Order: sequence, then C-alpha cells, then structure tokens
Amino acid sequence: MASRTVLLLAMAVILSSSAMAQLDVGYYRKTCPKVAEIVREEMVRILAAAPTLAGPLLRLHFHDCFVRGCDGSVLIDSTASNTAEKDAPPNQTLRGFGSVQRIKARLDAVCPDTVSCADVLALMARDAVVLSKGPYWAVPLGRRDGRVSIANETSQLPPPTANITQLAQMFAAKGLGLKDLVVLSGGHTLGTAHCPAFADRLYNFTGANNAADVDPALDRSYLARLRARCASLADNTTLAEMDPGSFLTFDAGYYRLLAKRRGLFHSDSSLLADAFTAGYVRRQATGMYVAEFFRDFAESMVKMAGVGVLTGGQGEIRKKCYVIN
Ligand code: HEM
Repeated sequence: MASRTVLLLAMAVILSSSAMAQLDVGYYRKTCPKVAEIVREEMVRILAAAPTLAGPLLRLHFHDCFVRGCDGSVLIDSTASNTAEKDAPPNQTLRGFGSVQRIKARLDAVCPDTVSCADVLALMARDAVVLSKGPYWAVPLGRRDGRVSIANETSQLPPPTANITQLAQMFAAKGLGLKDLVVLSGGHTLGTAHCPAFADRLYNFTGANNAADVDPALDRSYLARLRARCASLADNTTLAEMDPGSFLTFDAGYYRLLAKRRGLFHSDSSLLADAFTAGYVRRQATGMYVAEFFRDFAESMVKMAGVGVLTGGQGEIRKKCYVIN
C-alpha cells in the first residue's frame, strides 16, 4: 500500500513537471506581447492605492496552485449548485479578487480572450513581490484556466496548526520539497493574519484552560504582545502583522523573528523542528544571506507556479475570472 502511494506520488510529480516544461516565458510573444508590461503597470496603480494588497495577491497564487494546480480555480464564484474553493474556510480570508479581474479586463481590451486568469495570478504574485522590494523572476506562461472549483478540495491547503511532518507531506504531494517549504514560508514576510489563525497558541492550548496553558514553542514576551492584540479566542476581526515592523517589505525579517521563536503560526514555528529547515531559518536569520534567499524564493516560486498546470487544449481561457465560460 505504502509503495503504491509512493508510486502515485512519483507519477503526479512527473506529470506536473512535464506540464511545467510546456510553459514558456515568451508564450504570449505574438498574441499579447505587452502582457507583463500591462500587469506591472496595473500592479503599480493597485499597490499605490492599497499597499496592503501585496501579501494577499501573493497568497492568492499559492492557494490557487495547491488546489487542482495553478488553474485559476480559486477565483471562481460559487453557484446555486456548487460551493467553490473561494467559499471554503481557508479561503475566506483571501483578498484581492477585484484586482485580478481589473487586470484581466485591461488585458482583454488589448488582446481579447488570450491571457488566462491563472497566468494573470502568477504575474501579479511576482509583481507583488518585486514591488515590495523582493526578487524578480521571469514567469513561465501558458497556463489554461480550469472549469472546476470544489470547496472540499481546499483540505489540500496546509492549516496554520500543521506540524513539520504534515507540512512536508502536503508539500511533497505537490512535488515540492523541504527546501521549497522553508523558502516559500518566507512569503510570510508580507502581510497580516487574523487572530483565529494563531489564537489557539495564546489561550487554552492543550485544553487545560488556565492562564499558563499556552504554546511553549512561542517566545514569552512575544506571546504577551499577541495576547494584548487578540483579546480572546472569539476575536475574529483583529489583524496582526506577520513580520512586525516590515510587513509591507519583502525581506528576510521573517527568519530573524522565527529564530527567536516569534513565528506567528504553529506551522511557522514547526520549521524549527526539523534539522534541515531549522538550519535554513538560522542561516537566514543572520541577515547575511538575503541574496541567497531571494534566489531561492524565485526558484521555488517558479516550481510552485508549475504545479498541476493545464496546457495546450486543456481547460479554457476564461472570459471573466470569476465564472466558467
Ligand atoms: C507552509 C504552509 C502555510 C501555511 C500553514 C500558511 C497559512 C497562512 C495563514 C493561516 C495566513 C493568515 C490568513 C489570515 O488569517 O488572514 C497566511 C497568510 C499569508 N500567507 Fe501563508 N501559509 C503557508 C504558506 C504560504 C506560502 C507558500 C505563501 C506564498 C509563497 C504564503 C503567503 C502568505 C501571505 C503573503 C499571507 C498574508 C496575506 C494577507 O496579508 O492577507 N503562505 N498564511
């Protein structure tokens, strides 16, 4: 049984890497040569008006890729007969859908029915990082949009309570390794989180229900600060910066905090529970290898952006990102 699972996993990885091989940086060279320029221009406008959207737009691409591959399925609206990914609990805190459609509409005015919503997401995520002072990478393009979006399938997204074993398994299921896990978790240098994503670490952690019942993996003074912010387990509106002080800047600050046991989620902290990922965190925490983190991040993003993509005659080029043609 175990060997069958390994075989199936290996086949999934081979299939996804062969689909990735069909993506091409110059895919729209003839059909929409200004695609990257247009996305970039709009992203500059969007982030000038709403700088806090950089994090959400990066996260949208991650949530797209981990469910049915990077096929734009996260963008599809629910219908009377189907609850889509978008409305499942892990996705209820996603933001930025309007910006995706705004860019798609601008592209369609120049090159109608040509650029997929999945490609728009990949370009927007890259620009969100670049415009936050992070690394640039060329984005291979040519993804097609999927026609299916099912709320239950969001169980493939790692929860913030995940431990290192669960995280490693969920990433491996997408053909991503431990290095991708620790590097891509660095995306938490951007953005904010709602209290329920981590409040279980602050209150009644094991169910003992006393003031001392907190996650021992969390630095005590940081814990006190987080408690002051999230007053109770019931608080589901307050936000906390994930990399306090520089949550709008893409840098290695996430690792510096994590090494001091100040990672926000249990999943962040659990990167210290494995020798390899902990080694990466400590190396980056020194602040001396930021260029290396930037290169690693770019490489892992290209890998993640190739997970389970639809190419060639598969899927469709959606006219509106939120509805199947
Ligand atoms: C390793 C497993 C991961 C887990 C368990 C996880 C979990 C979460 C959770 C719970 C939030 C907070 C949502 C909220 O309460 O509003 C969040 C936010 C975020 N995540 Fe992750 N994440 C993971 C990996 C990633 C990856 C791979 C990326 C991108 C490369 C990413 C990028 C982000 C960003 C940018 C935000 C901030 C969004 C905002 O400002 O609204 N995460 N993540």
